[in-house]
Amino acid sequence: MPRLNENYLNLKESYLFSEIAHRTSSYAEKNPEKGAQIIRLGIGDVTRPLGKTVLNALHEGVDAMASAETFKGYGPEQGYEATRNAISAYYRKNGVSIDPEAIFISDGAKSDTGNITDLFGPGNVILIPDPVYPVYVDTNIMRGNEVTYLSGNADNDFLPMPDKNQHADIIYLCSPNNPTGACYNKTQLTEWVEYALANDAVILFDAAYEAFVSDPELPRSIFAIEGAGKCAIEFCSLSKTAGFTGTRCGYTVVPKELKFTASTGAVMSLNAMWNRRQCTKFNGTSYIVQKGAEVVFSEEGIRECQENITYYKRNAKVIADTLTALGIRFFGGINSPYIWFECPNGMDSWSCFDYLLENIQVVGTPGAGFGENGKNYFRLTAFGTYEKTLEAMERFQKLFH
Ligand code: MLT
Repeated sequence: MPRLNENYLNLKESYLFSEIAHRTSSYAEKNPEKGAQIIRLGIGDVTRPLGKTVLNALHEGVDAMASAETFKGYGPEQGYEATRNAISAYYRKNGVSIDPEAIFISDGAKSDTGNITDLFGPGNVILIPDPVYPVYVDTNIMRGNEVTYLSGNADNDFLPMPDKNQHADIIYLCSPNNPTGACYNKTQLTEWVEYALANDAVILFDAAYEAFVSDPELPRSIFAIEGAGKCAIEFCSLSKTAGFTGTRCGYTVVPKELKFTASTGAVMSLNAMWNRRQCTKFNGTSYIVQKGAEVVFSEEGIRECQENITYYKRNAKVIADTLTALGIRFFGGINSPYIWFECPNGMDSWSCFDYLLENIQVVGTPGAGFGENGKNYFRLTAFGTYEKTLEAMERFQKLFH
């Protein structure tokens, strides 16, 4: 009999979004008429189609596979040079210099934020915000790691800051934050970078929602902060930036200067380790997808993506305006596609989930799924269609007026 990874016994029975999908479909099965009225504003899944520029490039990628002269087999595990260069140029446009060799193309930020745990040994002090994207905590539990939570709450605008009396080895940050929509400013991120450098710690920075930052004063990358190259890894995704939730592509930036000393005294480069890990366990993102990804960062590609982001931000405003009119306190929704609100009438978040589903057939995400501090909060996504978002908010008005 194999000895199993019994750390899995310490996980919640199912992953947050699988649980929501399960509860929603079981409600729809039992109540077919009401089930047909369900509006899904739960998982942050996009609804706008891919832009024309991306579609053309994807078609070109497919066509290349049709002839022996242009056919592609295995690609580089790190990603094609053209895609890495395009991402490096995108950073440059945003005022950040990134060596293309620090960029690794993947099938999305979810995999990479989970897989990164391969690089770290046991016994680290790992700080993870609460509430936050559940993948960070779950993947650490899978490895048997202990986690120390950083409390995000209404008093700190869901932007926890370092405690200088607390040592850390690994720090997860997500900004703009999933689920709260809160976004660190430059001063706050500088404090985190200084803290990481002082502790010889690494920051694992999830920037999956950077494209939603419209305030030019807010950093879209941890590498906009001086010194971050020596203490941070950044994860990013085309899922929300370019509508790739189904197409799948992301990238992780591991600077070459990011090095730590092993117990043997050997200096280990995280870039080299991640490269080694990817070459061993990953055969690269498909050529066709990378063709599409490359042009996301072209002038036309960015313009098309921004059109969709503007569309989603209009949804966010509809939600924010409704909550404001109803006197429901909320966070986010400005530099982020997520709106995080306090459950009305003292409900806890799963009760709020059931209440909304049963009374107005609107599905959202219970805050408890993102951590203990989310237990009285609820997340709505702006990624639905405009019409459905409007309708969901009309139903909210009637329910809570
Ligand atoms: C979310 O709804 O939090 C995200 O869509 C999940 C993800 O990106 O994996």
